[in-house]
Amino acid sequence: MKGVVLAGGTGSRLRPITFSMAKQLVTVANKPILHYGLEDLAEAGITEVGIVISPQTGDEVRAAVGDGSTLGISPTFIVQDEPLGLAHALKTALPFVDGDDCLMYLGDNLVKDGVRDVVTDFQEHRPNCQIMLSPVPNPESFGVADVDADGQIIRLVEKPTVPPSDLALVGVYLFDASIVDAVDAIRPSARGELEITDAIQHLIDTKRTVRASIVKDWWKDTGTKDDLLHAQALVISELAHNIDGEVIDTRIRGSVHVGEGSRIVDSDITGPAVIGDGVTLN
Ligand code: G1P
Repeated sequence: MKGVVLAGGTGSRLRPITFSMAKQLVTVANKPILHYGLEDLAEAGITEVGIVISPQTGDEVRAAVGDGSTLGISPTFIVQDEPLGLAHALKTALPFVDGDDCLMYLGDNLVKDGVRDVVTDFQEHRPNCQIMLSPVPNPESFGVADVDADGQIIRLVEKPTVPPSDLALVGVYLFDASIVDAVDAIRPSARGELEITDAIQHLIDTKRTVRASIVKDWWKDTGTKDDLLHAQALVISELAHNIDGEVIDTRIRGSVHVGEGSRIVDSDITGPAVIGDGVTLN
């Protein structure tokens, strides 16, 4: 199975941060969001990864990933000339996928439990497509699944005004080669993009099997400032309390991580908090 990680787009909802950087390189607990996803793919045994980049921020993404060795992957960078949608990005990456199964991962998503279980489930059941769903308070901001009483998907709809359920599509999708025809068959949506949600709906309409699993722990799309802050709190609160640096005359409460070579003097730190390596606070 190959990985296709989307790291292009404009990041318009994260401005002003994204005026100066790619949204996937914004850090959560001192690590670029993109690295979490790439490490999750490596953990699931997916090492051949096509990273879709934009002409505007592609060089930064290349520099942040390098040869991929520290992340456990071997990257191939694929330029998407224009941000014409997630299905368009996948279409651009199809020569790299070359008829294999693929896992498409949106580079601004964070999934607490990673993707190992969903990859195993896909390999055991061999559907044409597997998606992950998660209940959210604001389904109108996502792709949403309409499911029947047995959990079978009836319909998927992108950013509905009247959501049929509170089950949002997580930015992790597994496909076999039947996705090739589906991304060719769909037309741009009202926002002018080729939607991956519409491509999966096409698979449903043409009687392909689309399997869904519900995410057990948290999942975050870090597309907005509030989501990003929430993601920081979730990730930081799970880091073990760990003081590698020097702490002098300082009161520390809660879970706090102090990196190597850091020196914290005469301070008051309330966790959850992460202080990186080589930081001086006094
Ligand atoms: C995209 C998809 C949407 C999905 C979401 C998950 O939305 O179009 O179906 O629920 O990612 O992160 P976007 O972030 O492009 O608005």
